[in-house]
Amino acid sequence: MRKIYFIVCLMTTYIAYSAWVYTGGTGSVVKMESAAQNGKRIWQRSNCQNCHQLFGLGGYMGPDLTSVTTDKRRGANYARAIILSGGNNMPNYHFTASEADDIIAYLDHVNKAATANIR
Ligand code: HEC
Repeated sequence: MRKIYFIVCLMTTYIAYSAWVYTGGTGSVVKMESAAQNGKRIWQRSNCQNCHQLFGLGGYMGPDLTSVTTDKRRGANYARAIILSGGNNMPNYHFTASEADDIIAYLDHVNKAATANIR
């Protein structure tokens, strides 16, 4: 008989915990600006993910770009220059300056989303 109380107690705790988790919402969502949205479209259309990772996911030919815009050794200007002119193994897409700005806005958004919970 004590066993059944134990199981009921576990199930009640599980249900209460699930209700709390699923109704809590996601307060850390960072809103995406329209430039960043356009940058995301360019990112997807150009298959950047084939060679680059965001949040550790993607191809491994190029470096992870999750925090490239604030990285001390790289930064937004460096990233913009590579995006505009390509590299040794990075293709030159012949982007316009405003397309490059939009990609940087997207990478900046990704960076902010990645660090939204870190204080
Ligand atoms: C064919 C693989 C490939 C694709 C596709 C590719 N890249 Fe790259 N990318 C690289 C490689 C490799 C590097 C490292 C520099 C080099 O060797 O040219 C690089 C470097 C970079 C860098 C500089 C980061 C650093 O730490 O050096 C940025 C920013 C970048 N790529 C953005 C992009 C964007 C944006 C796209 C899509 C529009 C893209 N890449 C598509 C291979 C690729």
